Amino acid sequence: MAALDRHGVRYEQVDTRTLYSYGGQLRWPVVLVREIGTVRARCAAWTLEAEGSRVLNSAQAIEICADKWRTTLALQAAGVATPRTAIAMTPEATLAALDELGYPAVLKPLSGSWGRLVTKLDDRESAATVLEYVAALTGPQAHLGYVQSFVPSHDRNIRVIVVGGEALGASYQQNPGWRTNRLWGARCIECELTPELAKLAVSAADAVGAELAGVDIIEDPEGRQVVLEVNAGVEFTGFDQAHDNVDAADRIVEYTMAALADAC
Ligand SMILES: Nc1ncnc2c1ncn2[C@@H]1O[C@H](COP(=O)(O)OP(=O)(O)O)[C@@H](O)[C@H]1O
Ligand SMILES: [Mg+2]
Repeated sequence: MAALDRHGVRYEQVDTRTLYSYGGQLRWPVVLVREIGTVRARCAAWTLEAEGSRVLNSAQAIEICADKWRTTLALQAAGVATPRTAIAMTPEATLAALDELGYPAVLKPLSGSWGRLVTKLDDRESAATVLEYVAALTGPQAHLGYVQSFVPSHDRNIRVIVVGGEALGASYQQNPGWRTNRLWGARCIECELTPELAKLAVSAADAVGAELAGVDIIEDPEGRQVVLEVNAGVEFTGFDQAHDNVDAADRIVEYTMAALADAC
């Protein structure tokens, strides 16, 4: 909002907690979704698109990014490098998939963020125990097993911010501990945005249809970079701390204003 003010943009802040709709007429030509809760972000985006708003990110992009398996499928379809990953429909099938995938592996909730519940499985014994807990969870969604090869990465991953098909810059998220989300205290340090890294991040954002994206990339010991996920509700505090010369909010506002000019 500070960036919108700096650009002299007239805007209305809509708190989704007070938003309701009968699926009626256009209220706003352009909507920039900053709702952090995926369920509300997704529902609001579908609703506002149905009302005729140009919504950033689109409901479809939010939908894909909110589901790690749909993201993996979209990345694979576009030929974007990503770790070896399997989906299994039950905890028993997950253990079978892990037997094939090998250890260590990572089990992730299909819809989650900030590294919460992302679990490293070092061997079959710990996997079987964790899956026993998974089986005890209620709801069919919790029983789907999204498992991925563990990539040894010196406890850091790379976050690239992409706005309108352009990579703004990259930062390392570095942590003492293998989950390198800021929630676990990761520090953000500037990382060189090589042409290869920029291309990988832009291809990942394109693959899921995200115009505004925070792309999580991990580098294996051989230096191969692979995409972990694309965040449609991109947070950029850490990125801003790591970059003196790029302001992510300014770039998002400029892109939003261009979308507004197109929409009017
Ligand atoms: N396959 C993996 N190998 C090694 N570390 C991983 C792997 N997948 C995730 N991580 C670590 O866990 C963190 C969270 O995983 P991520 O897929 O980005 O989910 P979230 O949506 O919770 O951020 C990553 O930033 C990374 O540090
Ligand atoms: Mg992440």
